[in-house]
Amino acid sequence: MKYGFFDDERKEYVITNPQTPFPWINYLGNEDFFSLISNTAGGYSFYKDAKFRRLNRYRYNNVPIDNGGRYFYINDGGTIWSPGWKPVKTELDKYECRHGLSYTSVKGEKNGIEAEVVFFVPLNSWCEIQKMKLTNKGNKTKKVKLFSLIEWCLWNAEDDQNNLQRNLSTGEVEIHGSTLYHKTEYKERRNHYAFYYVNAPVQGYDTDRESFIGLYNEFSHPDVVVTGKSKNSEAHGWSPIASHCIEVELQAGESKEYVFLLGYVENEEDQKWESKGVINKTKAKALINKFDTTDKVNQALHELSIYWKNLLSIYSLDSEDKKLDRMVNIWNQYQCMVTFNMSRSASFFEVGIGRGMGFRDSNQDLIGFVHQIPERARERIIDIASTQFEDGGAYHQYQPLTKRGNDAVGGNFNDDPLWLILSTTAYIKETGDFSILEEMVPFDNDESLAKTHFEHLKASFYHVTNNLGPHQLPLIGRADWNDCLNLNCFSKDPNESFQTTENQTGGSAESVMIAGLFVVYGRDYVELCRKTGKKNEADEAQKHVDNMVKAIKKNGWDGEWYLRAYDFFGKKVGSQKNEEGKIFIESQGWCTMAEIGMEDGMCEKALNSVKEHLDCEYGIVLNNPAFTEYVIEYGEISTYPAGYKENAGIFCHNNPWVIIGETLIGRGDQAWEYFRKICPSYLEEISDLHKTEPYVYAQMIAGKDASRPGEAKNSWLSGTAAWNYYTITQYILGIKPSYDGLEISPCIPKSWKSYRVSRKFRGALYEISIDNSAGVNCGIKELKVNGEIIKSHIVPIQKAGTINKIIVVLG
Ligand code: BGC
Ligand code: NOJ
Repeated sequence: MKYGFFDDERKEYVITNPQTPFPWINYLGNEDFFSLISNTAGGYSFYKDAKFRRLNRYRYNNVPIDNGGRYFYINDGGTIWSPGWKPVKTELDKYECRHGLSYTSVKGEKNGIEAEVVFFVPLNSWCEIQKMKLTNKGNKTKKVKLFSLIEWCLWNAEDDQNNLQRNLSTGEVEIHGSTLYHKTEYKERRNHYAFYYVNAPVQGYDTDRESFIGLYNEFSHPDVVVTGKSKNSEAHGWSPIASHCIEVELQAGESKEYVFLLGYVENEEDQKWESKGVINKTKAKALINKFDTTDKVNQALHELSIYWKNLLSIYSLDSEDKKLDRMVNIWNQYQCMVTFNMSRSASFFEVGIGRGMGFRDSNQDLIGFVHQIPERARERIIDIASTQFEDGGAYHQYQPLTKRGNDAVGGNFNDDPLWLILSTTAYIKETGDFSILEEMVPFDNDESLAKTHFEHLKASFYHVTNNLGPHQLPLIGRADWNDCLNLNCFSKDPNESFQTTENQTGGSAESVMIAGLFVVYGRDYVELCRKTGKKNEADEAQKHVDNMVKAIKKNGWDGEWYLRAYDFFGKKVGSQKNEEGKIFIESQGWCTMAEIGMEDGMCEKALNSVKEHLDCEYGIVLNNPAFTEYVIEYGEISTYPAGYKENAGIFCHNNPWVIIGETLIGRGDQAWEYFRKICPSYLEEISDLHKTEPYVYAQMIAGKDASRPGEAKNSWLSGTAAWNYYTITQYILGIKPSYDGLEISPCIPKSWKSYRVSRKFRGALYEISIDNSAGVNCGIKELKVNGEIIKSHIVPIQKAGTINKIIVVLG
């Protein structure tokens, strides 16, 4: 069952039934100021950091779901309704939500009145704009009352939940006409405040929640809205809110527009006050002045659409399959940009309080957006590397506001350092900018420890070789990419987190996944050394890579597939010998990507085993058989019920690793089948089962052992977005940036006849047509660049500004 449809022309997903199986959300904002918004306008806004600078309150995990947001109420002669259906939930005559690129519009109609609100965060501005249009579609003049509502929480969002003895006494506001200011804690250590404005005179306002709603009422029927009269309340402590009331008279057929603006301001320490106790509003007024008319707002919306048009013009596909085109051209790229901005911090599954910017997560996310905003990718790489330790190890995450690493979500994950090689080489291949390697970058944010960025990559590489176990495989540390394979944890206490408790020492748990990862990015490191004239270092590093290949072949192979690990005691994990968890996906992915034992048929065998044991109707599960008991020496992985999350869920992030492996052995049909199974646009028809948005990937789809296989969770913020984008564009469609040009190596289903890709690369445009009339999976018979046949599969870098025709004939 569907709840809407894709409008490809407008690059929107249109929701026609507000009761989606889970709130279907969108992200507003591209830099600094962000909002989350659901299809009923639930959600919240923040400046840079959803923990430290959250403007308004949102209630996660509540009943009913999705409580808190920017709410509008209309009182039309006693009938009360909301354009987004919630919170009033009066049945609407019409409802439509359009999630677009950095904007969302919500439209409701009741008894001849239509209300349409367009929400967006303008470029380079710290505010959310809500453009409201009310239309009288009937044939009589109507008078309605329009109320707005947001609930402030501009303080530490974590504290908001647990320090009530303080928070309920600190709230302070200022009221100036149609602008309601929230200035809690401003007089002490904050130099920032927020405000909510509307560009029309108000008949009344409220800033105190209890006055507005009534202590025992609900958001659905606030006192003020029901009685139709604001109380002009002034909050002192308790829970400050901001609500405007506007009386609107509409002739038959008439429309009126209003601009609401939720803004954030920071002042210099010595510029905080206008007079004693009165906040300096100069910046707030300037912000208001920028957007106080519909024309100005429409212009800002237009600028936003140009911004996206440019970003999406870098890679675009024209294939025979609309569902694929809309993912590649619009939604997958869009999701990659959101993961760039959010890492794993704020979604409807991530409460924006922990998890900041992940070291491994942010490095991997980069492969999904580096082609769009290379300068910001560069900045991100440097930010991440600045949190690295001198020995190559890393904080697992850093806080976006401070850019400082912290241990809040644990540390000592031994895969972390290697992802820095991935992001850096991806950046250089895209841009040709080797100068990043010479940049001086601190260790642990300490400038006195700064070394070149290249030295950081070197430290990453040797962090692995300096931490090998008895089988010459990398020690796993707290865990590797699979956070839940906690081989040193041995936790017995339900109150401790597997991610942060102290590990036991004295064991020697090793990871075959890190070994494969090391071979892949170790080779990239060697190549980079050669490109930059570091021959000795390249030779030295190559030896380590060769040794790792040997170690995997000798100690990492189980006969039919690659082992997953050795546990604390040196026992095999992911082997025929195990009762449960005999085979795991991660090492099959990485060791085939590293082509370990390709010559002996190991890759093909391992991939056949994936098909046999891990594949199911909805994707490839993480391990099999699922764990049915808690295995103390494995940790969190065995805590999940079978079929969910890391215990045999379809953890979508790692499916692409196998897909890439399939393309490397030339099995385009199989690669495509796996890709399609988890690609959201192909799951739209089963939205009632799948539950999460059909336009973005979810982290996890319940696997074959679950009670509801196919049901997804944790949408939006997942490495799945970047890896799937990388896989479809570079390995299936086969257009790969490389140091020397655009490498062309498609691996597609035999049934595809042709497709075209337009790719901007290093300033030139490449219009690539792929002809597969031969009906093959892969292999290039002929490659022409501007009419000339070339022997290589790498199209040399063309002059900036040129348009180049590349004709590829497969066969
Ligand atoms: C989840 C992982 C996650 C980790 C760190 C675990 O509970 O299963 O997917 O990466 O927590 O937050
Ligand atoms: C989610 C985390 O964000 C990511 O870092 C981790 O690799 C996966 N879970 C797998 O456990």
